[in-house]
Amino acid sequence: MSRTVYVNGSYLPESEAKISVFDRGFLFADGVYEVTSVIQGKLIDNRRHLQRLGRSLDALEMHAPADIDEIERIQHELIRRNSLDEGLIYLQVTRGAADRDFSYPAQAEPSLVMFSQSKEILRNPLAATGIKVITVADIRWLRRDIKSIGLLAPCMAKMAAKKAGADDAWMVDGDRITEGSSNNAYIVDHEGNIVTRQLGHDILSGITRRAILELAAATGIDVQERPFTIDEAHAAREAFITSASTLVLPVVEIDGRTIGEGTPGPVAKRLRELYIEMAIQSSSS
Ligand code: PDD
Repeated sequence: MSRTVYVNGSYLPESEAKISVFDRGFLFADGVYEVTSVIQGKLIDNRRHLQRLGRSLDALEMHAPADIDEIERIQHELIRRNSLDEGLIYLQVTRGAADRDFSYPAQAEPSLVMFSQSKEILRNPLAATGIKVITVADIRWLRRDIKSIGLLAPCMAKMAAKKAGADDAWMVDGDRITEGSSNNAYIVDHEGNIVTRQLGHDILSGITRRAILELAAATGIDVQERPFTIDEAHAAREAFITSASTLVLPVVEIDGRTIGEGTPGPVAKRLRELYIEMAIQSSSS
């Protein structure tokens, strides 16, 4: 079945949705994106995603193609037109089409593309089994706080994981984990503390991360925001990832080493439950 997608003011069947070959997203990966999950037809934590979109745009001196309310209206319209109950809304802003030149063009109109993707979020089978990750060198650029569409390094990391028989990759700077290829990374140490890298230019400031750290604090779990090593990860009691597309997923193996009992740990399971409860209660329809 063909989806209806949004391209610069029009709702179109996906086969008719087109962007210029001169679009700077195509030529330079000169663009930013957001992914918001949809559960029961509702956008989860969307305002924070759109605020982060504003920060990414500001960092690249790019104009917003529409204000937050208008973008949210289009997101809801896509959910309606595609009868989306569970999945994602992807949105991408690029600097627009201009003659190829590295400097930002003065005149280009930003381009806004959005589409929906159906996906099992609540009943993701990986929530019950947990995932296996490998560690790979973090070869990305040094402004990972900007949600850039330049995603070749994470694609390579995911492929390395796949070839190794794992589900995903955790990226490593020196001997310390930065984050997952498309998610934030956490361990639970033997005192029961959650450890995850602190915000800064090294990682994306995950919207799910923020909610999870708020939930952890409300539950009385201590959180240490600091870099952690591969050795600490291998020896952890538990590990997990968070993102809009996965919510919270337990990690049961890192580099072939079993984490904890090799089954989803209680902290990850509890935080997933709490997150889903909170998301459904406070989401926008
Ligand atoms: N990825 N870190 C990276 C590098 C990411 O790409 C993502 C999200 C996250 C988690 O952020 P959030 O909780 O706001 O989704 C962390 C999205 C889902 C993607 O690229 O598909």
